[in-house]
Amino acid sequence: MSRLLPVWLAVACAAPAPDTDPPPDTDPVPGGTDGPPRPPLPLPPEAEDLDPAPDVLEVRLEAAPHTFSIGGETVEGYAYNGSVPGPTLRARVGDTLVATVINRLDVPTTVHWHGAGAPYPMDGVTWTEDPIAPGETFVATFRLTRAGTFWYHPHFDTARQVDLGLYGALIVEDPDEPAVDHDVVVLADSWGEAGSRTPSEGADHHGLDGADLAWTFNGALDPVLPVGAGETVRLRLIDVSNTGYLDLRTTEGIRFVAGDQGLWGTPRAQAPVMGPGDRLEAEVRPGGAPEHLELLPYSLYGGPTGEGDPVARLSVVPDGPAPRPAPIAWPIAPAPPSPDPGRTDLRFVLQGDATEPAWFINGEVFPDVTVPRLALDDDVIVEVRNVSPTEHPFHMHGHAFEILSRDGVPALERQVEDTVNVRIRETLRLRFRATLPGFWMTHCHILPHADGGMMTVVEVR
Ligand code: C2O
Ligand code: CU
Ligand code: CU
Repeated sequence: MSRLLPVWLAVACAAPAPDTDPPPDTDPVPGGTDGPPRPPLPLPPEAEDLDPAPDVLEVRLEAAPHTFSIGGETVEGYAYNGSVPGPTLRARVGDTLVATVINRLDVPTTVHWHGAGAPYPMDGVTWTEDPIAPGETFVATFRLTRAGTFWYHPHFDTARQVDLGLYGALIVEDPDEPAVDHDVVVLADSWGEAGSRTPSEGADHHGLDGADLAWTFNGALDPVLPVGAGETVRLRLIDVSNTGYLDLRTTEGIRFVAGDQGLWGTPRAQAPVMGPGDRLEAEVRPGGAPEHLELLPYSLYGGPTGEGDPVARLSVVPDGPAPRPAPIAWPIAPAPPSPDPGRTDLRFVLQGDATEPAWFINGEVFPDVTVPRLALDDDVIVEVRNVSPTEHPFHMHGHAFEILSRDGVPALERQVEDTVNVRIRETLRLRFRATLPGFWMTHCHILPHADGGMMTVVEVR
C-alpha cells in the first residue's frame, strides 16, 4: 500500500503487520495517527422496530450466553440479541417504548433503563418486584419523556451481568435538535482490570487477566471512525465499565455539548471526568486532520495520576482535507442554577474502605436500609458527602437532579444529570422534584461497590 493512502482505507484493508520490515502504511500520517493499523469503530446494531406506528418503538431483547472476543481473547459472556454492545434503541421524545425482554440465561435477570425515567414497575429493580426467571419474559412499556443518551443494563447480580456484556444504548432524540452527518453511539468498557488499582473489581473480570487489556470502544481497541471530508459527528459516549473512569483529552475540533440528560446550556472544550454509568455527548468537526479523544490515566483513589501516556484513544479521521465545518447550531439555552434554599431533605454519606469489601451509605449496607419517604411533588434538596478513600459516581433512579454546588461553590449554570462523580472528601448539593411514585434505588455506580452494599432506597408516594 502506498504511504499516501488515506488512513481510513489503510485501516479498513490492514492485514496483521509482519514483524520484520515496518510496513509503509504504519508511517506517520497527517494528524499523528502513527503506530500499527487501528481497527474501524464497530457500531452496535440498531434495534428493529416491530411496531409500524410512528410513535411506538417496539423491540425484542433476548439475554443469552454469548461467546465473543476482546483484543484476541475469548470471553464466555452474555449478550442481548447476540451482540455486545446490545442493539441501540433509538426513539423520539414522546414515543412509547415497548420492550419484550426474554431471559435465556440460566440465572434471573432484569433490565433497568438508566436515566430514562421509567415508572417504578418498569425500573428493573427487585426491591418489591421479582426478577425475570430463566425462560421467562417481561414486557416493559413506558413513555420516553426525556431526550438524551441513556442506556439499559441488568439490575440483578449487576456487577457480574453487566461485566459479562449485558448493556446497550437507549437514544431519545429531540426532533428540534439539528441533524448531523453521523450520530454515533460509543460504549466504553474496561477489561482485564484485575491487575489495575481497582481491587474491588475482583479477579474474574470477564475471565480475562490480561494486564495489558484496557479500554474498548464498542468492543474495539483504539478504533478510528472514518468520515467524509467536512462532515460533522454527534458522538454519544457511555461509560459502561464496572469501575473505570474516563478522563478525556481532546483535539481542537471536539467540544462537549451534553451530559446524562441532554444538551447543556453551554458547550465545553474540556470534558468533566466520567465515572461508570455517566454519559457525555461530543460534537466532532474535523478540519483536514484526524481528531482524537485520548483517555488519560485516572485512579478512583484520587483522580488524575498526572503521569503516563494515554491508555486508549478513539479517533475521527476524515477522508481528505476540508475546512473545519461551522459549529453545530444546538438549541442551547443557558440558565442560572437554582438557588440553594439551605435546608437538607435527604443526606447521603458515602463511606467505606478499600481494604475491606464493605461499602456503606449512612452507615447502612443494602438491603438493610432505612427508607425515607417523600411526598409526591416535594421539592427535594439532597446532600451527598464522600468520607471514603475513593471517588464514587452517585446515581439516583427515577428522578434526574440539578447540581446546585460542590463543596459550597455554586454551579455556574443549571445542569441536570442522573449520575455525578463525587470526589474524595467532596460534598455535593443536589435538587429534584419528586414526580414519580415508587421506591427509587440510590447508589454508587461502581458496580462492585453497589453490590457490596453502597445502595439505598428513597420512597416517593
Ligand atoms: Cu445504571 Cu441502578 O443503575
Ligand atoms: Cu439507573
Ligand atoms: Cu463507589
